[in-house]
Amino acid sequence: MKPKPLALITGAAQGIGYACAEALAEDGFDVILSDINPDGVATAATQLNAVAGLTCDMGDASQVKAMFGRVATDHGPVHALVNNAGVAMPGDFLSYEQDAFDRVIDINLKGVFLAMQLAARVMVENRIEGAIVNMSSVNAQVAIPAIPAYCASKGGVMQLTKVAALALAKHNIRVNAVGPGSIDTAMMAGVNANPEAFKVAMSRTPLGRPGSAREVGDVVAFLCSKKSSYVTGETIYVDGGRLGLNYTC
Ligand SMILES: NC(=O)c1ccc[n+]([C@@H]2O[C@H](COP(=O)([O-])OP(=O)(O)OC[C@H]3O[C@@H](n4cnc5c(N)ncnc54)[C@H](O)[C@@H]3O)[C@@H](O)[C@H]2O)c1
Repeated sequence: MKPKPLALITGAAQGIGYACAEALAEDGFDVILSDINPDGVATAATQLNAVAGLTCDMGDASQVKAMFGRVATDHGPVHALVNNAGVAMPGDFLSYEQDAFDRVIDINLKGVFLAMQLAARVMVENRIEGAIVNMSSVNAQVAIPAIPAYCASKGGVMQLTKVAALALAKHNIRVNAVGPGSIDTAMMAGVNANPEAFKVAMSRTPLGRPGSAREVGDVVAFLCSKKSSYVTGETIYVDGGRLGLNYTC
């Protein structure tokens, strides 16, 4: 029997990352989950019958390198990589701490770069025509003043996705991004718990509801599949229409 292709998903203990892993497993991938939360990733890996559940802080370059080394040795080359791990770390612009800025960029942007580089090297060595999907955000295009580093990181992910797509096209490795709007996960719990903030967010959401994690996971699975074989360098916004909206009425 032909072995299943392998997918690695970061930040997969919960939320959108978990939903991506679930969707990819349903599409016939063997999935490896990774997350900074050891108990969470172990539970998620068991629930999804994953090949492995690995602990890795995507903001720590040495841990990222060690994880990709271990994956290549123990499981072989990945065919699909989903760079989903991300943090927001809100704060006031004028007093925003440099340490917080560095940490967000290390996880959301530098971690994405390193993971793409490490996964793609192994894909190229093994002549695998793989797919990489990076988790961006509507905040790559529009901004929220309370999350300066986050907005910068997600704009960076959009551009880095184009760079990697161009660099890897000759190897038939496709690189795309997904930009969620307001998705019902722990990251949005603060907004959901505050009726005023929720009302504002929904007033900026033409479909009138938050998206589910799985609605993002399904687009990620599409971008990892042959159905998107001529798509590379793109960011697909899964945002209920937010970016198309000018004024509300
Ligand atoms: N929820 C939304 O509305 C929304 C909107 C736009 C973009 N996103 C993006 O989607 C991705 C997933 O967000 P979510 O809503 O599922 O959030 P979440 O907080 O529910 O899940 C994030 C996961 O990433 C893990 N994680 C955090 N820091 C990590 C690190 N340093 N290394 C490895 N794993 C780490 C967490 O443990 C958690 O399991 C993020 O990149 C986020 O920026 C979310």
